[in-house]
Amino acid sequence: MTDKIRVGFNGEFEVKEIAVAPGDPVPWDPSRTYSVLGTRVPRLDGKAKTTGEAKYSIDVRLPGMLYARILRCPLAAATVTSVDLSAARKMPGVRAALAIAEPGEKIRFAGQEVAAVAAATPEQADDALGAIRVAYAARPFVVGLEAARKADAPLVFDGKAETKTSAGDVESGGKGLARNGNVLGPRSTVKGNVEDGFKKAAAVVEATYVTQVQTHTALETHGLVARWEGEELTVWASTQGIFVMRDELAETLELPVSKVRVITEYMGGGFGAKFGPRIEGVTAARLAKAAGAPVKLFLDRKEEQLATGNRPSSVQTVKAGATKDGKLTALQLTVYGNGGTNGGTGTSGPIKNIYACENLKVDEYDVFTNAGPSTAMRAPGHPQGAFALEATMDELARALGIDPLEFRLRNDPSAVRREEFRIGAEKIGWAGRDTRRRTPDPWIRRGVGVGAAVWYNTGDTGPRATVTIHRDGSAEVEHGVQDLGTGSRTMVAIVAAEELGIPLEKVSVSIGDSRMPFAPDSGGSATTPGSAPTIRRAAFQARKELARAIAREWKVPPESVAVEGGRISAPGDPKHDVSWAEACKLLPSQGVAATAERAENHEDAWKRFTTGAQFAEVEVDTATGKVRVERVVAVHDCGVPINPLATESQIQGGVIQGVSYALFEDRVLDGPTGRMVNPNVESYKIAGALDVPEIDVTLVSVWDGINNTNSVGIGEPATVPTAAAIANAVSHAVGARIRQLPITPEVVLAAVREADEHAKGGRA
Ligand code: MOS
Repeated sequence: MTDKIRVGFNGEFEVKEIAVAPGDPVPWDPSRTYSVLGTRVPRLDGKAKTTGEAKYSIDVRLPGMLYARILRCPLAAATVTSVDLSAARKMPGVRAALAIAEPGEKIRFAGQEVAAVAAATPEQADDALGAIRVAYAARPFVVGLEAARKADAPLVFDGKAETKTSAGDVESGGKGLARNGNVLGPRSTVKGNVEDGFKKAAAVVEATYVTQVQTHTALETHGLVARWEGEELTVWASTQGIFVMRDELAETLELPVSKVRVITEYMGGGFGAKFGPRIEGVTAARLAKAAGAPVKLFLDRKEEQLATGNRPSSVQTVKAGATKDGKLTALQLTVYGNGGTNGGTGTSGPIKNIYACENLKVDEYDVFTNAGPSTAMRAPGHPQGAFALEATMDELARALGIDPLEFRLRNDPSAVRREEFRIGAEKIGWAGRDTRRRTPDPWIRRGVGVGAAVWYNTGDTGPRATVTIHRDGSAEVEHGVQDLGTGSRTMVAIVAAEELGIPLEKVSVSIGDSRMPFAPDSGGSATTPGSAPTIRRAAFQARKELARAIAREWKVPPESVAVEGGRISAPGDPKHDVSWAEACKLLPSQGVAATAERAENHEDAWKRFTTGAQFAEVEVDTATGKVRVERVVAVHDCGVPINPLATESQIQGGVIQGVSYALFEDRVLDGPTGRMVNPNVESYKIAGALDVPEIDVTLVSVWDGINNTNSVGIGEPATVPTAAAIANAVSHAVGARIRQLPITPEVVLAAVREADEHAKGGRA
């Protein structure tokens, strides 16, 4: 069946004909009015969370539960020669112990898992770790990216590159790629011919940009509680994907999938590092089996910093050229990334997908080091890629004598983002940015900078949901999605209430259990576009079931019964027009229900990237080098926001994480020992309340018709351009280019000196 829908944004729509799958509702349309969709709904679980009533996985306590701890290797590279657990097994309270690394196994970073114990109390488990005897043969190691690239550097992998903590990442990223010492790659992309492009350019700029390693630092650490009942395993996990967790536990432990249950009722964040059971998940399950008791294994903050993943560092050389009238002619990126024992460190997303350019060349190399493995982190590769690209755009605009924003507008193929740039520029006061640079205090400079966002995912098939309408007029949704803290639970309720035409209070939501209908993993910002269309489809079908049941009662044809706006009616008899509540009273005691599976995306609708633009205004103390981000204006689209309050909250979170990345966070490894020197949240500085700027969020609704709710995710795009905009703002303030993150006082003072020397040179 084909249907006409309206797609577009900002009040300008065009009609598209799309194929709508049987049983799927036609996408919500901008011409209709909505009662719940798009209203600002506080999180349904907000009260439970703020009162402490909500039980996160880390809060789960079961009768007879044991506590597990993991022993980690203090050396950056070693071969395990023996693991002796006998003394640990005799320690007070110890109920199980196991080796994670076997003799002969190689340790590749300080903090890698070696053995684990489960004991009656956490303190007893800690004590027992001290009784595990491990002998190592130390091996040479390398922790720095540049050092690891040298021909005589110790090899992180003398054979095939593999990583135990996030299995598969290296290999999938490394298929068929050249390996030269510790360097893997390049993964190359070529479009057109950059050499021709540079020849056509009136100006060419080239520079190298360096970014640090950032760790995820979710509030809730990694971990789970594992309980066996016979051959059935139940885990309460802090995970971004309960179904991936279920499947991987079943596979690793050789259990039928049907015998594994994963529950994640509340969760304290993941940012990309919480997929699959990982070593701690499998270890907890094995210890619980061995001990014959439930086991709780949650990592501490130090373990989080060492071994649970991170955003890899990067050294990016970007070369770009443009014509006199400001059209890009060539873009080139060469990047080396340090992902520790993992690969996949590329940063090319922004340069490939933001500005239009006919000639592009990208070469991405992974550099292995003896450091904890990188893993996906909130828009993998994008904050670092955007930082280098957006700095380059500013440099090129300057070389051409064109306003940096105008330069972007001339090269941006996205009508939505061009509008976002305009909205943001107005709000930040872009036009007056040069006059604001100087302040009454001669040491204090202000600066304004800009950056662009791009993201891709629009959800996938697979998710299912069940919607039941009860006789008392209430409705129930079951959908096994996890809520990472983003508001998924509330999103589910909103979509069901809107489709059924009943108030939000009448809808109850059950999520976070793998015994419920299958739901998407929360990765790639695809939770909402995976779940929302599924919920709507199930509610749409449940509504049809309601109409059918009422039609039977009224003895009228089912298609003559309308369920709209909380009323159920059929033509012909004035008695056939009743309220939702009256109609539901006619239902049998089991009510009516429908289970539906998500339909495919409407690729024939308005397929496009998710975009965004952020502007930052900073104040820089040129005497101390201290940067204060005063204000961030964030203008984003994510289809049609289902709950603008939660969407804005996601964007605020993305901006805060971006501020923290731009100014503070930095994993520091010690060259001589290979150990992390700041494995905490004290000397690993994270933005605190006083560092958070005023964040001004604007949402641009885009009716793209990609799915029946026009929903797209926002978690990742929200953090893509923040550091880029801040770095550009600091560069504007001090009058010299910032080419390194984090923008510490030292980095700022070096730029101030560069600007001073330039000024002196100019006078001479
Ligand atoms: Mo994400 S970095 O796909 O959780």
